[in-house]
Amino acid sequence: MFRHLLKKDDQTSLASELEVENFSITHLDAILDIEKEANPTPWSKKTFENILNRRSLSFVCLLKTEIIGFCIASEVLDECHLQNISVKKDLRHKGVGRYMFGVLFQRSKLFGIKNTFLEVRESNRGARNFYDKLGFREITRRADYYKTQNGREAAVILRLTH
Ligand SMILES: CC(C)(COP(=O)(O)OP(=O)(O)OC[C@H]1O[C@@H](n2cnc3c(N)ncnc32)[C@H](O)[C@@H]1OP(=O)(O)O)[C@@H](O)C(=O)NCCC(=O)NCCS
Repeated sequence: MFRHLLKKDDQTSLASELEVENFSITHLDAILDIEKEANPTPWSKKTFENILNRRSLSFVCLLKTEIIGFCIASEVLDECHLQNISVKKDLRHKGVGRYMFGVLFQRSKLFGIKNTFLEVRESNRGARNFYDKLGFREITRRADYYKTQNGREAAVILRLTH
């Protein structure tokens, strides 16, 4: 169903030039730079280190030798939790996010994943459209889940059934 996400012949996208590597300690600094420009309340170094200590589906995305994005996800039984996905600001809208999700989808298959879940800020229109295009659908909301500069905002909980 998601084969097209990995297609390498799309002239408008960077997909043919991208590679992935499993998330490791050597990637931490580059990931933190991307996170800081992507997230209004960025994850700390400690949070990423904790992920490294757990079994997970996480990886970074490279263009030539540069880390330009990352995907943090974990699996429990037949469920995947997509915790964070980010692309370097100046390389967005070129198919990198779609490519990374395609890689995650393929990895998930190896683990027998049946559903992928995630939370996204209600105000994050760009990411919500991205997930909508991938086939995610809203299942519920959690009020006041995320901090904002002025208060709090809801999380929209999305699911993709594989
Ligand atoms: C969300 C994110 C990962 C998408 O990555 P990307 O490489 O820019 O996305 P792609 O180029 O692969 O886009 C795939 C589809 O999503 C849609 N999309 C992506 N970003 C979008 C945006 N800001 N607004 C509207 N649609 C968007 C595109 O229209 C595209 O569909 P199309 O090919 O049919 O036009 C990237 O914008 C990002 O890093 N955002 C900041 C971090 C973030 O919010 N992560 C999600 C946390 S829950």
